[in-house]
Amino acid sequence: MAGPVRIHNILSNLWSKNAKLGKILQAGNWEGEIQRCLRSDIASAITTTSFPEFDSSPQLNSHLDLYKLSLEKPDIFWGKLARSRLTWSKDFDRVSDCDLSNGLIKWFIDGKINASVNCVDRHLDKYGNRVALIWEKDEPGQEEYITYKDLSLLVNKLSNSLKNHGVKRGDRVAIYLPCCPIAVAAMLACTRIGAIHSVVFAGFSSEALAGRILDARAETVITANEDVRGGKLLNLKKTVDDAVAKASCVKRVFVYDLLDRQVPMNKLDIPLNKVMSESSGESEAVPMDSLESLFMLYTSGSTGKPKGITHSHGGYLTYAAVTFKHVFDYKEEERFGCLADIGWITGHSYVVYGPLLNGATTVLFSSTPTYPDPGRYWETVERLKINHLYIAPTALRLLLKGGDSWVTKYNRSSLRKLGCVGEPLNHEAFEWYRDVIGEKRCDVIDTWWQTETGGICIAPRPSNPDAPIYPAMPMRPFFGIDPVLLDSAGQVIEEDNASGSLCIKRPWPGMAQTIYGDHQRYVETYYQPFAGYYYTGDGAVRHPGGYYQITGRMDDVLNVSGHRLGTGEIEDVLDDHHAVAESAVVGFPHDIKGEGIYAYVILKDGVSESRENIISELRQMTKKRLASYAQPDMIQFTPGLPKTRSGKIMRRILRKVAASSSDDLGDISTLADPSIVDVIIKNHDKIV
Ligand code: WTA
Repeated sequence: MAGPVRIHNILSNLWSKNAKLGKILQAGNWEGEIQRCLRSDIASAITTTSFPEFDSSPQLNSHLDLYKLSLEKPDIFWGKLARSRLTWSKDFDRVSDCDLSNGLIKWFIDGKINASVNCVDRHLDKYGNRVALIWEKDEPGQEEYITYKDLSLLVNKLSNSLKNHGVKRGDRVAIYLPCCPIAVAAMLACTRIGAIHSVVFAGFSSEALAGRILDARAETVITANEDVRGGKLLNLKKTVDDAVAKASCVKRVFVYDLLDRQVPMNKLDIPLNKVMSESSGESEAVPMDSLESLFMLYTSGSTGKPKGITHSHGGYLTYAAVTFKHVFDYKEEERFGCLADIGWITGHSYVVYGPLLNGATTVLFSSTPTYPDPGRYWETVERLKINHLYIAPTALRLLLKGGDSWVTKYNRSSLRKLGCVGEPLNHEAFEWYRDVIGEKRCDVIDTWWQTETGGICIAPRPSNPDAPIYPAMPMRPFFGIDPVLLDSAGQVIEEDNASGSLCIKRPWPGMAQTIYGDHQRYVETYYQPFAGYYYTGDGAVRHPGGYYQITGRMDDVLNVSGHRLGTGEIEDVLDDHHAVAESAVVGFPHDIKGEGIYAYVILKDGVSESRENIISELRQMTKKRLASYAQPDMIQFTPGLPKTRSGKIMRRILRKVAASSSDDLGDISTLADPSIVDVIIKNHDKIV
């Protein structure tokens, strides 16, 4: 079949299956773009200039040569980069020893390294006075600049404070702080003494925080008294107090005064400003085994409680350093504005580790995209002269609605690259980013990756400035990443223009090492769905030229404004309501959030409480027990759910109804009671 016709058929098929993707793809002249880009990509000269490590290899002339080397001889490729980009306390003996079938991931074996030395100490001689962090506070115009020297002092004093109060190598330390210099210092202070940090997004509820503390058996929490975000006061300490009351493993809570206000202190609490001021500014950095855990970060899966994804030292640091430099084509002294919170992996890899490992200047954004008005991002870009912006599609979609005038009134000439991450970037948002925000001067870099992958795996032009960019897709695998698409039988899909389950065939240094305390779950989740492959849980289409476009999750994980949420997590909360017998949660296309939350709820017999009350209580419960973004957008009461005879909920039907596209429900004959489908559709029509 001729290329464009086949592309069209496949995409049409996908559109009909996936309303969200359909919306994304239909918004542009897709086939024409693909054909144009493919021609110029093949013709473009590709250089390796930014990889001095390979300058003396005459057979490596192109980006493609280098990519092939990274796949075929990963030990040579990553070994050279790890040695030249990082400072090791002891060189590694072997580059890698991995076995994907059993989830055994080892990089830079027997090497010793310290993350804080690599992020801070080694820059001091040359760049001590360079700005490391720009703290963009909630109120515009109040930014603070922290040099590498300043950061070094903070990290040393904080690590001495931890040590003096009994925190040891291998201990887990929960950090419940907003994006601010003390949070970065806390992360690096942990790494300095070999403690494992577990940053918990400071918007999570006390219950979510307690669950994460308990799972990690963390004895130490670092938090602040209060904070303001979007003009609203956040009582962080109170949330931590409530969490600590449920987590008896906690022995000490360091409280930093971010705001000049008194909060009640308890017997476990240690005033962090005070103990830091009394601590020495020099703290020895512990050389850590490359394979020891650097940090853990909780993320949602399709089943069960959130997983403590654990990353190791050598592998993660190498991958964060190299991806930061080459995905964004970062040049010395540029200002990097990744506006994510440190509570997510994006904040770990591209607010903290990637930039600091490269001696870059990184922005810590503590406000919201619309505070005090929808011009906030662009006013910040102008004031801080940001060169690289890295944000989420959901923010773009939100700001786009406010119109161009909020953008054009600010000077954006400092911008050079425009990145995004977290969810599929739709055409409209892509074009607005490229044409209005970037005035058609800047590349738009859609990056695909996950908490588990440690760093970016698919992005348009890793260090290849001549390669063209397709609209709205991450496109090209990064060095060392060998993506494959598998069909449901586990067969590799060889042809282009096909969609399948996105898996990765070979190990790479950034990949997570385990799920904290549950290696079996790690193996079952990522390596057993398709033996011998890393399973991402995402679907993708591969276009001619080997360019990947992500179609969204294929499992029961929702992606709400770029935040992962397991449907099971939300159902567990809803089911705890005294009036609820059962619930089923699915995603539906949402203009701003990408995906909204739709809950079907069966009430117990004889419930007389008003439905409005129950809806409001259910929303409150999800906010309290999970986070505010976990509140269902739509709640539909139903007398039953579409279940197969074996009792499995047919979520496909619930998703279609939630998306108001119930014309083509497919085969429903295997349902125990097919008549429930009509009832569900009628009730849906009443509430939308
Ligand atoms: C989704 C965020 C489409 C995907 C770094 C993935 C994306 C999940 C993209 C991971 C993208 C991330 N296009 N979808 N460019 N980037 N995703 O762990 O479903 O918070 O599996 O890591 O976000 O989310 P996580």
